[in-house]
Amino acid sequence: GGSGSGLDVDLAQRNQRDVASDPVRAELPESLPRPARLTANQLGFQPECDIQAKEAISALQRAKTKDCRQHIAHIACSIQAGRFYAIQLKSSCPSGNHTANVSLGCYRDEKDRRLLGGYYTSFKSSNSPNVCVELCLQSGYPYAGVQYGRECFCGFDPPPKAAKLPDSSCNIKCLGNAKEICGGFYAMNIYETGISKFTAQLAASTPPTGAKRVRIAFLLTINGRALRQVHRLLKALYAPEHVYYIHVDARQDYLYRKLLELEQKFPNIRLARKRFSTIWGGASLLTMLLQCMQDLLKSKWQWDFVINLSESDFPVKTLDKLVDFLSANRGRNFVKGHGRETQKFIQKQGLDRTFVECDTHMWRIGDRRLPAGIQVDGGSDWVALSRPFVAYVTHPKQEDELLQALLKLFRHTLLPAESFFHTVLRNTHHCHTYVDNNLHVTNWKRKQGCKCQYKHVVDWCGCSPNDFVPDDWPRLLATEQKSLFFARKFEPIINQAVLLQLEEWLYGPYTSEYLNLHGYWQSLYHHEDMHGAADDLTRSVGDSLMRLAGHQARVDPLELLELTHYLHRDQYKGFLVRYSARRATGQDVQLETRVRPVQHGKLARNARFSKRLRNFEVSTDFDQKEQVARNFAKILGPQSDLVISYTYQGSTDSGAASHSYNLTLLWIDPLGRLQDFNELHVEDSSTDVINHSRTLFSHPITPGVWTAKLIGRNSIYAQLRFLVAPMAYGNGEPLESSAEAEKRNGGLGIALPDDFELPVEWQQHLHTDDEQFLLREEAVANGKLTGQPLHNWIDVLVGKFFQLRESCVVDAGTELSLPLCSDSAWSSLAADPKSDVDALLK
Ligand code: UDX
Repeated sequence: GGSGSGLDVDLAQRNQRDVASDPVRAELPESLPRPARLTANQLGFQPECDIQAKEAISALQRAKTKDCRQHIAHIACSIQAGRFYAIQLKSSCPSGNHTANVSLGCYRDEKDRRLLGGYYTSFKSSNSPNVCVELCLQSGYPYAGVQYGRECFCGFDPPPKAAKLPDSSCNIKCLGNAKEICGGFYAMNIYETGISKFTAQLAASTPPTGAKRVRIAFLLTINGRALRQVHRLLKALYAPEHVYYIHVDARQDYLYRKLLELEQKFPNIRLARKRFSTIWGGASLLTMLLQCMQDLLKSKWQWDFVINLSESDFPVKTLDKLVDFLSANRGRNFVKGHGRETQKFIQKQGLDRTFVECDTHMWRIGDRRLPAGIQVDGGSDWVALSRPFVAYVTHPKQEDELLQALLKLFRHTLLPAESFFHTVLRNTHHCHTYVDNNLHVTNWKRKQGCKCQYKHVVDWCGCSPNDFVPDDWPRLLATEQKSLFFARKFEPIINQAVLLQLEEWLYGPYTSEYLNLHGYWQSLYHHEDMHGAADDLTRSVGDSLMRLAGHQARVDPLELLELTHYLHRDQYKGFLVRYSARRATGQDVQLETRVRPVQHGKLARNARFSKRLRNFEVSTDFDQKEQVARNFAKILGPQSDLVISYTYQGSTDSGAASHSYNLTLLWIDPLGRLQDFNELHVEDSSTDVINHSRTLFSHPITPGVWTAKLIGRNSIYAQLRFLVAPMAYGNGEPLESSAEAEKRNGGLGIALPDDFELPVEWQQHLHTDDEQFLLREEAVANGKLTGQPLHNWIDVLVGKFFQLRESCVVDAGTELSLPLCSDSAWSSLAADPKSDVDALLK
């Protein structure tokens, strides 16, 4: 989460990574200029007060809608008036303050040192001069028919038969016993240092024999389009006695529609009807979790624990083992703490700032003082909570001031789910149920994951964990001996091999006849999706490909149905265009064609540099964390923010002198004009280095064939021709007037400043003024095209930059000389049993 939350890594690693992530905070929009005054005119309303906080003013200037500005202003004024946050709260954790000095040991008979069983913990209470020792004793040794006795002693450590005090004076729950030490069970998560309200943090590994097995409510919070991975996850988690409640981000109608189909088949799978736009780090994420938990409590379903998971989680132990574990720990709450100095955590996490969520953004509006009298705690937002605790947090009583105040506090907190449950647990009568383990291993690689990549969503620099790839296998393997049951993150579009390895480790090898085990399909467009500006470009190119494919198959295309990415053994094989069409006979059919995007590259022969240049490509959506451009289909258009990326292969020749290159990348538009340039510095290295470079264009850019040229002082090293496709749609509608078309396709501006002096040696790479003049006329005319002429223009261009590879027909008995899609391994209609949830019904 926040740039500060160092979760799920061991301390040594964590410290190293923090160093790497520290500078990230410098990028906060701290230095926004403060105007003399915000006028009612600017805002569209008169705020209740003269807003002072610089950050609130900045937020008000940036927020798009009036509703949002009003909301921000209202909260900023309430805070300014001092009537928003509680100043002092009272913890209701009954234990008071203890100097936790916990040790774990076996309880042995004093005389013969015979093991009596169980463990003991000791701690010193601030309000008692004695060391208080808690014993978990088992009536009779060895451990059979476990029924733990419980005694509380004060005075000595280790405990002899001393003065016996009432339970309440120790206030520590006895929940398990210790294996590694006492030979029976094992313990974990012992607090060893620091001043904290002490709670025993031992978790048992095996349930007492005959104990009732718990039922789990899996709360899946889902975003994106990775339907098949969600199915695969459900397959791994499914059992009829558990329940599955799914929240899909309100903006993801594809996944919502598709997952809704599960309700018909499974009585224990349901989708939340009340949906939120759960932006990254947003307050809505907590609102949504609480709402879903409330729904779960209201349902007729029986469950003892809620576990939240996302589309990128996957189990690392079997469901049986998870149930065993939780059955042994009924009533406890599993959350992961930050494991560092609290004040540092608070600062890095932005807990001492107020945030307001609106217009799908988290606005930072100023500093705040956290209420005194409570212990603020946090870490990971992946949790396993017991039913009683869930009931407590979701149904706050009016008179429960503490919980009411915390709910309010966390409604205005960045990444609220990373601290809310922890803090409530620490400060209420549920404090003794806290276990510092969220059951997850998280693949943090802060150097890569903390690139301030959510700046457009939150006024803060956030971090995300990396996707697992086969190189991370040791980290997954290491979960075996620990009470860890899930890992994150997994994204099959980045790597599916590691999921296969994981499943085979958990459930045994797949058979060699297993169908399409190495295929992965992920939707990129669906005709039932809500159309609008966001998919105008994809439809423009998709329609064109449908026309080209239809022409090839001698059918009349009717409607573009779906576009689907297809990968095999983690290699991108292109995307699949599914469409309906009419045959000359009048018969309607559906077809699918595999298409590969192509960019035309040339490398200088003999240049040492060029020989080591790989994956030189232009795309958009470069993901710095996974080091890959997410626009796999290379569908680029007039509004695209183009990015060049390439791999510079590591040198295997250790004897050779190391070279570094200062190169220039020229971005040349279809008129042969320079639109932008990047200075690239490429260092020699023994390992592959992935670099990328962005452009600063004024949009819309000219559609047509562009060239990126990589030049040195005297020579050209590489060049790449790529397509910026013209648009056929605007705001979800086909472009009908030439004025509308011109707005999208008539971009002829130049991004470079007027006074920019073009270096002479670059001119040979550009067109002359005369050449430009002729091309400009053509571009102006093209920019106005609509209807059939527009389609013809697009089709000629698309035909050059997308290759039609193979086609299939969906329906049997059409006499078309094409294979059936269900028999074509690449087709989105090919069998995919690893993601087939229907198999669960058999
Ligand atoms: C990391 C941490 O693992 C997480 O604890 C913290 O909340 C954010 O940082 P990260 O990989 O960055 O997670 O977030 P991601 O898994 O993409 O999203 C978190 C949750 O929010 C998921 O359940 C996801 O489905 C949901 N989400 C995210 C949405 O619903 N909509 C979005 O736009 C983004």
